[in-house]
Amino acid sequence: MAHSLIIFASGRGSNARAIIDYFKNNGKAKVSLIISNNSGAGVLEIAKANGIPTLVVQPKAMGQEEFLNILAAHQPSLIILAGFLKKIPAQVIARFPDKIINIHPALLPRHGGKGMYGHHVHQAVLTAGEQESGITIHYVNEKYDEGNVILQAYCPVRAGDNADLLAERIHTLEHFYFPRAIEFLLKG
Ligand code: GRF
Repeated sequence: MAHSLIIFASGRGSNARAIIDYFKNNGKAKVSLIISNNSGAGVLEIAKANGIPTLVVQPKAMGQEEFLNILAAHQPSLIILAGFLKKIPAQVIARFPDKIINIHPALLPRHGGKGMYGHHVHQAVLTAGEQESGITIHYVNEKYDEGNVILQAYCPVRAGDNADLLAERIHTLEHFYFPRAIEFLLKG
């Protein structure tokens, strides 16, 4: 049977789309639920267009038994944070040990932590004068961006870059590597 994946996302959902498309093509997994804290998130439209159930959740409900039971009912092989901006409560981490992964659009441990998301990250990379940036796919623990690293991929920071240009280069890396890292973990 195909592995079940749950995706958490707050924004436009281009990574969610890359994951959905990748596994639609190879059949090894299926995104069975998409969760967002934001009822206006683009990712919910992507879910709808693909016939994937969605759930909009209030951050304070995420630690409750009812929510944990909804997640458990999907028997997820992995819970994937793809641009999810709220903290995952300890109760969720305890219920799904070693099953929750995140993608960060920089090379952790640099440029991570609370408040470091989206353009804030790319701007910090540029301000620091880094020669390279990239992505980090990692396990999620109780601290923002500090779980064990699964995969890092690099790209150059080019002269004349701004946060938009860097974001675009990083998204290309994310869309290639995130589905493949997930597939690798499913085999393990
Ligand atoms: C990605 O850059 C990801 O690394 C970060 O949030 C962004 C989400 O983009 N955590 P999208 O919603 O998948 O397009």
